[in-house]
Amino acid sequence: MKDQYQLLIGGLGDDAHSIGIGLLAIGFREAGFNVCNIGIRNTLPDFFKLADRFDIVMISNKNGHAELYLQEFPRLLSEFRLYNDDKKLWYLGGSLSVSESDFHIKKKYLEMGFTNVYPRPIGFWTILEDIKQDVVRYYIPQRNSYIWKNEQDCPAIDYSELSDAKCSEQELMEMRKDVLTEWRTGSKVQLNHFEIPKNSLDKLLWFRKISKSNVLLQPRTGVADITEQIEKLQTLERSGSDISSVQLDAASRSRLYDKADEAREISLGRKNSALNGFPIPVYGVSEVKRMVNSLQTPFQLRAGGPDHRFTYEIALQSGISGLEGGAICYLMPYDKLTSPQQSVKNWQYVDRLSALYEKHTGIAINREYFGVLTATLIEPSIPIVVNVIQALLSAQQGVRSISAGYAEQGNRIQDIAAIQVLEESILKYFKRFGFRDSRITTVFHQYMAAFPSDYAKSEDLIFNSCITASLANATKVMVKTAVESMRIPSTLDNVNALGTCKKAMLVAHSLKIKPEDIQAEKNLISREVEQIMEAVIELGNGSIAIGAVKAIEEGILDIFWSPNIYNKNKVVSIRDISGAIRFLEFGNLPFDEKTKSFHHEKTLTRKNMERDSSLFSLLEKDLSRIWQNDYKRWPLDNIYVN
Ligand code: 5AD
Repeated sequence: MKDQYQLLIGGLGDDAHSIGIGLLAIGFREAGFNVCNIGIRNTLPDFFKLADRFDIVMISNKNGHAELYLQEFPRLLSEFRLYNDDKKLWYLGGSLSVSESDFHIKKKYLEMGFTNVYPRPIGFWTILEDIKQDVVRYYIPQRNSYIWKNEQDCPAIDYSELSDAKCSEQELMEMRKDVLTEWRTGSKVQLNHFEIPKNSLDKLLWFRKISKSNVLLQPRTGVADITEQIEKLQTLERSGSDISSVQLDAASRSRLYDKADEAREISLGRKNSALNGFPIPVYGVSEVKRMVNSLQTPFQLRAGGPDHRFTYEIALQSGISGLEGGAICYLMPYDKLTSPQQSVKNWQYVDRLSALYEKHTGIAINREYFGVLTATLIEPSIPIVVNVIQALLSAQQGVRSISAGYAEQGNRIQDIAAIQVLEESILKYFKRFGFRDSRITTVFHQYMAAFPSDYAKSEDLIFNSCITASLANATKVMVKTAVESMRIPSTLDNVNALGTCKKAMLVAHSLKIKPEDIQAEKNLISREVEQIMEAVIELGNGSIAIGAVKAIEEGILDIFWSPNIYNKNKVVSIRDISGAIRFLEFGNLPFDEKTKSFHHEKTLTRKNMERDSSLFSLLEKDLSRIWQNDYKRWPLDNIYVN
């Protein structure tokens, strides 16, 4: 075995971003390093336990919560050096803070003992150059390589625990008692009280759907201080936001409520929030209710994690009428160790609870799915299948208001086709499984991967993305802001983005798109969705829940970049020359030869046109071109490579 530099890389704390570390791991391997990628959600002791065998340790935090998990770094580093005094490189990078300046962040962590600190995203080649200089400067040795077993062992899944049956009210009530003990604010949730929402999200969505009016606009917000949060939402309402919502902060998403509370306190002394979202469970029912009732628009909660039963109990009791999330879409992009079987059970609880609220209040709780998944280079059939499965699971528990989500990838024809197939597929499978009285609407997410760092390009992306959403006839669009790559948006940033979208809606329908191009893409996506769905149904032998979990285990459903240990991770996709996403590696996706050869041809043309056949290099280009502003215009149809 040849001598190599030994490099350890992983994400820290409540951060779920897995793509950057995934890309660095592939890149450093290609550059000749021996790399161990321990994935997301590690603690500092996890790094120090392994540090002995490595000479370069790279710690990543991309959600701005670094300071919450690095407090112990100086102490752990000096303890570590007492028994291992070898020279090592300690690198820290990502998007380290949502409230401090780059200068301050860099100084703080260099003083703590890091060798190098990148406060915000930086290209792979710069990092490689820095490392190459540092290994010489610090006399880092190359050593005999140890082969890392990168896959963690997954505990076996107990399929006897899974069922499609509607949970009984009595069983639900028993579980609720237990869930409500999770944190102190749970004591204020009354089991037999069902708050009637002041405004119904379901009604608004359905009205827009049947009246075919303009696409609804929903900006994102989330700060630690409730007074600021209320002011923000009120201002946005006055500026044309149709739906109010908060993003749950990442500490609460990880159910680290004490951490969230601590960061809320830190925020009070600062100009900017130290939390990357609003901590619903920390505030509890009466405060959240005050916020919801201070608004005229329906309220939705958006989060990201496999178990939000506690948080969503607080939300429903506070009069929130829309909840985002589902068993697959809130597990695979966000969590490393939870099994899909456990996640299905958690989300069946949320669905059943939503149905119970409808029974008592007469107002349907809207359930939306995060069709974004891991956001980057996601071929449409995968999120569509995930939406269909989750919609069926929700309907089985009695949910009737469903919003299916999809994230723009950048090729307008493909994105429009995807939104249309998304709705048609759910309707098709609902008919087949006998769910007839549901209201299905669609959600278009403006580009969810790394945004252009150039303000004008970013604004242009938002404008054109809203045109795509309108042409697709999506029910609502999740609006980004032109400062996406720079900071958590201020209220003014959000207001500006709403203005940009309104302008786009004025011109959208004067644009001509060729129906035959859309139809061709739709045919392809529908065929793929059908092939995966049929395999899921067959695997489950009548049960969607069992079929879905087995499909994940066997890679019949495989989510590119997922940090979850149950994901097969054999699928790879890249852009074609028109910017549409195509599969390069199929893993175990159950596609026929016709489908595979279509993708093969598209990816081959890309390789030939770019004169590049290296997987890493193609991926690196696809992951960097947009945020580095290295593209002509948005959308990418006919101009991505030419
Ligand atoms: N405020 C505003 N927007 C947010 N997002 C996430 N958290 C917040 C917040 N606290 C948006 C960003 C991010 C996406 C997942 O949601 O655009 O990329």
